[in-house]
Amino acid sequence: MSKRVRTAVFPVAGLGTRFLPATKAMPKEMLTVVDRPLIQYAVDEAREAGIEHFVFITGRNKGVIEDHFDKQYELEPTLASRGKSDELAELQRELPQAGQASFTRQQEPLGLGHAVWCARELVGDQPFALLLPDMLFKGEPGVLKQMMEAYEETGGNVIAVEEVPMEEVSKYGVVARGKGPDEGFAITAMVEKPKRKDAPSNLIISGRYILQPEIFALIAEQPRGAGGEIQITDAMQTLMRQQAFTGVKYRGRSFDCGGKAGFLLANFVYALDRPEIAAALKAEIKKLGLGSGTA
Ligand code: UTP
Repeated sequence: MSKRVRTAVFPVAGLGTRFLPATKAMPKEMLTVVDRPLIQYAVDEAREAGIEHFVFITGRNKGVIEDHFDKQYELEPTLASRGKSDELAELQRELPQAGQASFTRQQEPLGLGHAVWCARELVGDQPFALLLPDMLFKGEPGVLKQMMEAYEETGGNVIAVEEVPMEEVSKYGVVARGKGPDEGFAITAMVEKPKRKDAPSNLIISGRYILQPEIFALIAEQPRGAGGEIQITDAMQTLMRQQAFTGVKYRGRSFDCGGKAGFLLANFVYALDRPEIAAALKAEIKKLGLGSGTA
């Protein structure tokens, strides 16, 4: 039987340059979609998948993320005294229990691979989930939970993938699909940013992973790639020679909230899901002449 995945790693040490100046003093992962910061959506998704230990790889200006997952002593009595019991209960429900959250710093933003490597002592010798919080996934159940179901069958390493139009594959990591259904198929190869003609499929790696701890030693051996950064795909390619990788073509859709268009679209789509604002929003959209407002 595969070892249970209890720990999730959230790399939040990037500079978020695509969102400057918003991200000058505030981390990108605290940008809000409707009224929840991006990092909160990722933590909720992990909790739904059974995660019990939340590891954050932070950097400069990221103290606010630590505060976000802490008790707010001024806020709680104020909400209680104003009778806002629903808001208070929600805040308390969402808080990781004492000892469930760990924070370590990536002292320099040397790339995603390096950020993951910074988690090695906190994760130890066990499989872990890796969630990139600027990728927001709308799935039922959550994408990590869908991946956990595949992991229970296959063990090894699991990667969420999604289809993109063939003309866009060169922007992403792309997998080659072997045998098996959408819910869990063998990945036979991985290529980083291939030319369209060399791409083995239009299935891209999209920000959710379950990885075995052997990845840490392989990241440590990686030379720096483009922009002096240490990437994770190179280490995964090496790990593929030793261990199985399973792809999950998840049910749902993603929003790349690391970029403005994806972030704004996510706000729009998530707002339309909120009964308390959807009607007013649709009416305003109609007034702007941007559509029928019936979406
Ligand atoms: P991105 O490449 O999307 O983040 O990394 P970025 O570098 O902050 O973004 P831009 O391109 O400058 O706007 C995906 C995730 O990995 C984290 C980021 O915080 C983000 O959640 N990351 C990236 C790190 O933790 N450390 C790094 O060195 C790089």
